[in-house]
Amino acid sequence: MNSKKYILVTGGAGYIGSHTCKALAQAGYIPVVYDNLVYGHEWAVKWGPFEKGDITERMRLDEVIAKYNPIAVMHFAAYAYVGESVENPGKYYRNNVYGSLVLLEAMRDHGVQKIIFSSTCATYGVPKEIPIAENHAQKPINPYGTSKLMIEQILKDFDTAHHIQSVSLRYFNAAGADVEGEIGEVHDPETHLIPLVLDVASGKRSHVTIFGDDYETKDGTCIRDYIHVTDLADAHVRALQYLENINQSTVFNLGNGNGFSVKEVVATVEKVTGAEVPLEIGAKRAGDPACLIGDARKIQTELQWKPKFSNLETIIQTAWNWHQNNHKKN
Ligand code: UFG
Repeated sequence: MNSKKYILVTGGAGYIGSHTCKALAQAGYIPVVYDNLVYGHEWAVKWGPFEKGDITERMRLDEVIAKYNPIAVMHFAAYAYVGESVENPGKYYRNNVYGSLVLLEAMRDHGVQKIIFSSTCATYGVPKEIPIAENHAQKPINPYGTSKLMIEQILKDFDTAHHIQSVSLRYFNAAGADVEGEIGEVHDPETHLIPLVLDVASGKRSHVTIFGDDYETKDGTCIRDYIHVTDLADAHVRALQYLENINQSTVFNLGNGNGFSVKEVVATVEKVTGAEVPLEIGAKRAGDPACLIGDARKIQTELQWKPKFSNLETIIQTAWNWHQNNHKKN
């Protein structure tokens, strides 16, 4: 019998995946990182074995699953650039949708019956109601969001047919870095607001371009619900424990229920860093809803999830600490 609780973590060398590996190890699991290193970083694998591989490679998946006999899969591996998904949808459907299908069939054939899936608020599209609850209509407006919604549907069908139970976690805007400074956000190319504004604060970029300032919001700029990556990681461990105890698939939003505008984010970065951040107003970015705020009461009630770092200043402070101490990786 295998008494060690191995968890196969696809995309575990990436931003959210690596923070979740740390949380898994702290909770007594052994995260086995399965990552093709296209966007992930080997230096971010610190809490368990690393197996290089792509989710579209069935033979490699078979090998790794047979080697560790994991009790569950956490599935982070995906392409996640919204703009690129509009220009090159094939890349997103092949990797995200087809790759997930290969992974699920491998799980089915090896008897791995539990999966936690990284879904997104991008599956909702332009919301009709704010805050957005899980039962809000899902009408994605870009191939990235559609690819994630298709996987949610595939998960339902694999539960019906093969009794593979899943928890889909629909993230709002992941941000911040490990409070102990061990890991943090490094994307190449970087497109996310907070790391870009921090680049300006540290002198690596000259200015930030605000994508539109005539939205129907309080200051005309887009509003997002920023959630600390460590709070996200904690929710994954709770979702896993839920599946260990209750054999029922479900879906949860993960946000803080607070919205901050782009200008408020910039002002908070200025406050935290003490630097001035020059701004330019640019065109709206295609596919950006004016306001996305999540209603996460369901996971708070059902899994007793309580965000510890919901304050925007704290989120930005942890990101700034990481940013300053890890220039070699940035
Ligand atoms: N923004 C700017 N200037 C920039 C970068 C971003 O004004 O240089 C704005 C965006 O328009 C948006 C906000 O800052 O209003 C946040 O943008 P991010 O790119 O940081 O995050 P997104 O909200 O676009 O994306 C996140 C996830 C995606 C997910 C999406 C769902 O990163 O994976 O939420 O809407 F699909």
